Amino acid sequence: MPANTGRPSEDGLLVVDALSKNFGGHQAVNQVSFVLQAGAIGGLIGPNGAGKTTLFNCLTGFMPASSGRVLLDGVSIAGRPASAVFAAGLARTFQIPRPFPEMTVLENVMVAPRGQIGERFWTNWLRPAVVARQERQTLAAARHWLDFVGLSGLVHEPARILSGGQRKLLELARVMVAEPKIVLLDEPGAGVNPALLDQIVDKVRALNAQGTTFLIIEHNMDLVAALCSPVMVMAEGRLLLSGTADAVLGDARVVEAYLGSPA
Ligand SMILES: Nc1ncnc2c1ncn2[C@@H]1O[C@H](COP(=O)(O)OP(=O)(O)OP(=O)(O)O)[C@@H](O)[C@H]1O
Ligand SMILES: [Mg+2]
Repeated sequence: MPANTGRPSEDGLLVVDALSKNFGGHQAVNQVSFVLQAGAIGGLIGPNGAGKTTLFNCLTGFMPASSGRVLLDGVSIAGRPASAVFAAGLARTFQIPRPFPEMTVLENVMVAPRGQIGERFWTNWLRPAVVARQERQTLAAARHWLDFVGLSGLVHEPARILSGGQRKLLELARVMVAEPKIVLLDEPGAGVNPALLDQIVDKVRALNAQGTTFLIIEHNMDLVAALCSPVMVMAEGRLLLSGTADAVLGDARVVEAYLGSPA
């Protein structure tokens, strides 16, 4: 079984064990446990404020969890900074993408993940030939992934001219340069027009067929039903249940969680 709400076995690509995050007295993520197998496109749904983005923030090192364990390919990543988690192969995109507006689309994809600047400084100084080769490789990879997501015609434009959907595609290209094992997408469908949404779905499918595992937060249930298995449901910080899209979307507890939400 690819995911469950009990204590997880340790052999998935991503193992989350009793993860919690509280803000003051508010328990935003409450004892969440699941296993995502390599090769899956997992879905994470739930009403506004359920704790989905907070869970992503804790998994990716953007926020320290209050307690719990996270294993990526059997290695503990809980408590490690975002740059280290990214380097270990767990990448994420943001609910509201904020590219550097005045940098070009290409430059945005080539930006080094934060935390590696010092490392780069010393390598630059000591081994310029190695650095030059790495830069060429990064440039080639950036162009490849921008082409893959359909933005090759805009590489020299400032990122501020991109639409919401194009910004989502830019983020996908940016994370793919690092060849992650698993990509966490926070609402890839939000604010995206239907044509571009189809394109994003196609890209996720193609990347998955090439071996990338995904976990996707999404409110668009058509997208979830088309792409995701297993689908996990969060409500009020807890993992309510998980299963196939059909089973989960027809479950009375899920309907109730959405109806009871403040949004
Ligand atoms: N940095 C923070 N400080 C304090 N409270 C926070 C913080 N981030 C999130 N919260 C609270 O934690 C809860 C979960 O928020 P979160 O953004 O994770 O929800 P979500 O499931 O992603 O919702 P949405 O579908 O609207 O994006 C909410 O009550 C929110 O107000
Ligand atoms: Mg969110």
